[in-house]
Amino acid sequence: MTTDTITTSTQASYTSHDKRPRFPLPRYPTGWFAVAFSKDLAAGQVQPITAFGKELVLFRGEDGRAALLDAHCPHMGAHLGHGGKVKDNCIECPFHAWKMDRTGQCVEIPYAKKVPPKARIATWHMREQSGMILAWHHIDGEPPSWEPPVIPETSDPGWSGPEHRTWKIRTHNQEMGENAVDVAHFRYLHGTQNYPEAVIEFGTPLLHMRAETLMATPKGEVKGVIESHSYGFGLSLNRFSGLIETLLVATQTPVDDDFVEVHFNFYVKKLDNDDITRGVGKAFVAEISRQLGQDIPVWENKIYVHPPMLCAGDGPVGKYRKWARQFYPAHYIESSERAFAGS
Ligand code: FES
Ligand SMILES: [Fe+2]
Repeated sequence: MTTDTITTSTQASYTSHDKRPRFPLPRYPTGWFAVAFSKDLAAGQVQPITAFGKELVLFRGEDGRAALLDAHCPHMGAHLGHGGKVKDNCIECPFHAWKMDRTGQCVEIPYAKKVPPKARIATWHMREQSGMILAWHHIDGEPPSWEPPVIPETSDPGWSGPEHRTWKIRTHNQEMGENAVDVAHFRYLHGTQNYPEAVIEFGTPLLHMRAETLMATPKGEVKGVIESHSYGFGLSLNRFSGLIETLLVATQTPVDDDFVEVHFNFYVKKLDNDDITRGVGKAFVAEISRQLGQDIPVWENKIYVHPPMLCAGDGPVGKYRKWARQFYPAHYIESSERAFAGS
């Protein structure tokens, strides 16, 4: 992915030399995950992408439509994201100029009359909407079973943004998502004044949460409502209202066996006074980023306790973990759990 600034902690004490897997979960869940943002891919541009432990190539045809393919050329394995060129809405390999179209099929070899029929690359289901390029991931390659949401605020002139932040964090997607239902940690890790009173619905695939809370602002703490919609582990929309309406579009993409890349895009509903909008926007970004900065060292160094030892006041962590199982094919969970148990 193209990133502005990446914050990576070097403090994590877990090393990949540890024999037991760190999490009793498949590393790459099912769902929609951001692989790029529309503004970073102009017509005719090519980007190498690492996601789901794989090398991919993203390109946008001259006609404006993007495509996501496996990265390596079927001919002799060159990476199309490094030196590949867009021509006639296809991608041309930098090595011997074979041309693949957006379905992954090789359609032209400049020095051969006949194209081998098996010369093709796997393509990925993708959607481009609300400024994001989202790829569908399923371990067994099954097609999308739901659609990602369209986010009206992202194209509404009454809203400012996005203000963008990004991090690369050594954790697992499921661990990050659990943060939202782990109500007790808000007070003790983040220092908020109260436990948010949350109403949580666990759906398929949506996890919907609504909570009343106190938000820190330059004018002190203000009572507000947080409403969050999580579409699996890759995308969540977090709307905050109180002093002003704000939206955080959070994407979490597992890039490899260790890291999850997180992007926060913040939007603020404009007020008549631009300075106030900017001021509130800045405070909002600073507060959410401050909280994430407190979560990161916990996530990077914790272990996954399975099952967790829960007590009253912990929030619906057990229900969350049951909800989470829908994002892995059952046989993968079982084999991961066996590996975790060391059997
Ligand atoms: S490796 Fe791509 S054309 Fe030869
Ligand atoms: Fe947190």
